[in-house]
Amino acid sequence: MNDYEKEHGELVRRLGAECAVLLKTDGRFPLKAPGKLALYGNGARRTVKGGTGSGEVNSRYFVTIEQGLENAGFKLTTKLWMDAYDKVYADARASYIKGLKQKARKHHTLAITESMGAVMAEPEYDIPEEGAGDTAIYVLSRNSGEGSDRIAEAGDVLLTKTETRDILKLNEEYENFLLVLNTGGPVDLSPVLEVPNILILSQLGAETGNILADLVLGRSFPSGKLATTWTRWEDYPKIGTFGCRDDTDYTEGVYVGYRYFGTVGKEVLFPFGFGLSYTDFEMRAGETRLENGEVSVKAYVKNVGEKPGREVAQVYVSAPQGRIDKPFRTLAAFKKSETVMPGAGEELTLSFSFKDLASYDEALSKWVLEGGDYVVYLGTSSEDVKPAAILRLDGEAVVKNCENKLGDPGFEDWKPEERREETLPDLPVINVTASSIEPETADYAVPEDVDPLIESLTDEELCYMNIGAFDPKGGILSVIGNASMNVAGAAGETTRMLNGKGIPAIVMADGPAGLRLSRQYVRTKKGVKSLGGGSLESLKELLPKPAVLLMKLSEGKKTKGEVLEQNCTAIPIGTAIAQSFNVSLAEALGDVVGDEMERFGVQLWLAPALNIHRSILCGRNFEYFSEDPLLTGKMAAALTRGVQKHQGCGVTVKHYAANNQETDRYNSNSRVSERALREIYLKGFEIAVKEGRPHALMTSYNLINGIHTCENRELIEDLLRAEFGYEGIVMTDWIVSMMYGGKHKHARPSSVKTAAAGNDLTMPGSSADYKTLLEGLQNGLVSKKQLQVNATRVLRTAGMLAKE
Ligand code: BGC
Repeated sequence: MNDYEKEHGELVRRLGAECAVLLKTDGRFPLKAPGKLALYGNGARRTVKGGTGSGEVNSRYFVTIEQGLENAGFKLTTKLWMDAYDKVYADARASYIKGLKQKARKHHTLAITESMGAVMAEPEYDIPEEGAGDTAIYVLSRNSGEGSDRIAEAGDVLLTKTETRDILKLNEEYENFLLVLNTGGPVDLSPVLEVPNILILSQLGAETGNILADLVLGRSFPSGKLATTWTRWEDYPKIGTFGCRDDTDYTEGVYVGYRYFGTVGKEVLFPFGFGLSYTDFEMRAGETRLENGEVSVKAYVKNVGEKPGREVAQVYVSAPQGRIDKPFRTLAAFKKSETVMPGAGEELTLSFSFKDLASYDEALSKWVLEGGDYVVYLGTSSEDVKPAAILRLDGEAVVKNCENKLGDPGFEDWKPEERREETLPDLPVINVTASSIEPETADYAVPEDVDPLIESLTDEELCYMNIGAFDPKGGILSVIGNASMNVAGAAGETTRMLNGKGIPAIVMADGPAGLRLSRQYVRTKKGVKSLGGGSLESLKELLPKPAVLLMKLSEGKKTKGEVLEQNCTAIPIGTAIAQSFNVSLAEALGDVVGDEMERFGVQLWLAPALNIHRSILCGRNFEYFSEDPLLTGKMAAALTRGVQKHQGCGVTVKHYAANNQETDRYNSNSRVSERALREIYLKGFEIAVKEGRPHALMTSYNLINGIHTCENRELIEDLLRAEFGYEGIVMTDWIVSMMYGGKHKHARPSSVKTAAAGNDLTMPGSSADYKTLLEGLQNGLVSKKQLQVNATRVLRTAGMLAKE
């Protein structure tokens, strides 16, 4: 293993522990020393390091939980159980694949199409227990991925009968019993709540198993907090629709996640922001101040337990109810302590801008602060908080004058009929005068510079600049996740047709759980060729036999030449990173990715992914951070800073925007109000853009209020560029214009409308995209000037990212 891999692995191991959330503890863990251990559960050996799809990282190694515990010196007494489970799994998998093939025949499709992201539900079984010793760990895993949503059934969101039975039995039988959740998102834990020790390990990348062993032995400690509410499935709101074909209604408006639970006063099992430690903390609020529009809250954290730990101070604000209905409390700031030893304490200062508490008033198309009391709370979860102060605004203040730009969903947002009330104690009051708040006015004029080099390009050349790596002489096969000639396994690149004019190509590779490249490849005269480990590898079991044979033959051919390697580190999934509530941790992980990008010649990382956890069913939630836009934006900005510290490396924040389900993902229309878009779904992007200054952004597959996001000029030019001040390039998600045909309610996007909307690149670029764009230019569907403006942005970014 290379030195950098060792270093990155060690860092992931150290930081990963911080992402784990301890849900319940009776103090029996951590253990004093490794000993005999009964290890059960579907994730014991088949541990999940991250979900499936374009976010899967091909790392050299991955430590499963079985291996991690053995590395730490545990003697596992349940090897036969794990062998028997392997057999159960293999049989279930075989019949699952058979089922997919049958479905494909019935639907006249391919098994691959039927399988897109679908994850096999956990089977039922009855394997006798054989474990010995006084300690047992049960690892419950769930996998999910791109192309399919999760289902609220046994084996996915719900526990199977087998799992419930085995967990409860082990809990009865063993003195020390720990339930470990190796999942990317919530499962309904209601049948096993009596278990006294529950840890969300999450999916932590290459070192997942070692991280658990460290936590179990107290060599590290959990300090993560929930980035999304975990509760009973039946208690999650079902106000809007989810997972529909064609149109999905976000009727719940801004009441997403804890904003809903908190406002209607519905109790949840484990609230947003919640997480325990091996020790106990007390938190006390100090003074709240307002200076130059910045609110700061002092928090004193004291470790009153017996072990070291870290605590996260969280400030929530309750805005006054007026013309605009508002969630009961929303997160305004958070800060994690350093390690605090028993008996010691730390003072933390949390700050935010008073203006950030504004709501979007659709009727006036303004961000406004309504007059009244803004109650500031300090605590350790969205529910465990105490009021600290009141910011009393003497009248209404306009924060920003905007224009409504995002269309009409065709309904009014839901409003809670009854709202939770709270009686407040006497609190310090800070008076704020509305006249002290200076309103801004959005300026929708976006600079339209054209570089002289771009001005000299022919129509054809301009079209090359506006789509990915299409080459009229052949060359790149636009395969999802593998469309780069220069870096094996990279997802795409910009044109090489103009290298002769000094315009370098930008190479892009996926994330977000690390850098996704092929591990092994050979370099030929025509470019690089991956040797397995690429995107098609995992699909072999679904392909018809002749296709597999062909693949094998062509792989045989590819092995001629020197086999080169690029080993990347699998880091924790997005949700786990958010659970750390630690922006420095996110920055450090970004640094790992940036370092590997530099090594392998990748200029843009197709991550971080920052869609909101609107429903726990979204199949890609594990890639995304949270149900809260502030946490989302802060984490994305920190990862961005970590990556972009490296000269020539940039991130691509994605998928802009309201891409919150996988069902019908190319064609689904998210119907969302302007307010919910601005306050919830675009907010994280706005924060990431302002605080991280990402070099690139990817639009999403879906439509918003009837317009594909990649063709939505208002979304791209007016909101992103003009209002948020974004200066990088915008690209489409992959093969937007080719991916589906057939009958759909909404027309598919085209490279010409995409370019006309100010979206600089149709990715990864195909002959059809090129042809459509050139014809569109000749027929006046897009102006030459627009293509030049787009191309100038690509040129400047390429120049900035090119190595000196
Ligand atoms: C995914 C993107 C990814 C791209 C390139 C798409 O299917 O939605 O997240 O970056 O493929 O692999």
